[in-house]
Amino acid sequence: MKQIGVAIVGTGWCGGIRAETCAAHPLVKSLHLAEVRAERLEEIARKTGASTSVADYKKLLERKDIEAVFISATPEDSHFPMARDFLAAGKHVFLEKPIALELSEADQLLKAAKDRNLKFTIGYSQRFNPKFAYVRKSIRDGTIGKPVSALVSRHITRSLGKKISGRIKLSPAAMESTHDLDFVLWCLEPARPVRVYSQINYGVMQATTGAPIADTQWITVTMDSGLAFVVGGGWTLPPGYPNFSTTWIEMVGTEGALLVDDSHRDVVLNTMGKGMQLPMSTMPGEPVEHTYAGPMAAETVHFLEAVAYDRPVMVTPEHARMVMEVYIAADLSAESNAPVTLPFKKWPEKIQSASASQS
Ligand SMILES: NC(=O)c1ccc[n+]([C@@H]2O[C@H](COP(=O)([O-])OP(=O)(O)OC[C@H]3O[C@@H](n4cnc5c(N)ncnc54)[C@H](O)[C@@H]3O)[C@@H](O)[C@H]2O)c1
Repeated sequence: MKQIGVAIVGTGWCGGIRAETCAAHPLVKSLHLAEVRAERLEEIARKTGASTSVADYKKLLERKDIEAVFISATPEDSHFPMARDFLAAGKHVFLEKPIALELSEADQLLKAAKDRNLKFTIGYSQRFNPKFAYVRKSIRDGTIGKPVSALVSRHITRSLGKKISGRIKLSPAAMESTHDLDFVLWCLEPARPVRVYSQINYGVMQATTGAPIADTQWITVTMDSGLAFVVGGGWTLPPGYPNFSTTWIEMVGTEGALLVDDSHRDVVLNTMGKGMQLPMSTMPGEPVEHTYAGPMAAETVHFLEAVAYDRPVMVTPEHARMVMEVYIAADLSAESNAPVTLPFKKWPEKIQSASASQS
């Protein structure tokens, strides 16, 4: 069995899950951690028995015993420089969403990975949720016929909304619905998005974050196949189980329909101390004794296998770039109150830099 050296950069919530999953997996020869919070670094190093723990990720770049890296750091403006540096150093890269802040940065990463024949993928973890995979399978094998319309509605708690919008001013489309845009576009392959219309709603977020971050955002996407779908997301649910998330999916086809309840209300824990709670209800999931409830562990192992056995990654960077175009278009649409046509012909100001590399 080929074993690999793996690094994790940023060992917070997701990076912690990645690190513990890697530490327990036989494909991992050695584990190397980079984290700027000394206490958290120490905690995860202790839990995982990591060979290396450093504050500065650059110390890992030249290490010959590292073949692959999971980049799980925040804030999100760190994603592009970190991925660029690791790809330049010849490492296979798993990068949490978002791929970058600008399309031109995404293009640079795509090119760097291609030029060096390196694996490069983005953490659209919901593809490893069996319910989501079942929806795609039911389209691919013809069970529900030709897709006619789709809807995904996702809500998470305001504590998580506050955590995210406190570190970066990105919209619910870019930070939350991005998972569901990826999912529906994946289901509908090879159709491509041609028009996006979005509206946003304000409730409590402006007061909480002091920034123009919406509470919910609804996005209608029209595909070149003629199908239109709706994806909506919000991050202002009242406090629930830490980081509670709830999702509802409708996929309607010519021969059938799928109604998927991923609302995470199936296990209720009621205690004197905390009242009613909904365990195992976060998006990435959590370890439960010998097993894992949620998609993030399987996603982590998939990348280890892709690197060790030279298999294709589940989420191609080209697809992640297409998702990025859609949420940028959604933000532009919400701002201008008008539909936005894709692919961008006249590049909007905030992605002007991308036009230079395309022309
Ligand atoms: N796939 C999913 O379901 C999912 C869920 C939540 C978050 N995410 C994504 O994962 C990423 C991480 O989110 P999180 O909630 O784990 O964040 P987090 O804030 O809990 O963890 C990020 C960690 O990065 C560390 N860090 C910051 N700068 C660093 C640097 N220069 N070098 C090394 N470490 C550094 C921070 O100290 C922190 O511990 C985000 O970009 C987010 O978009 C994905």
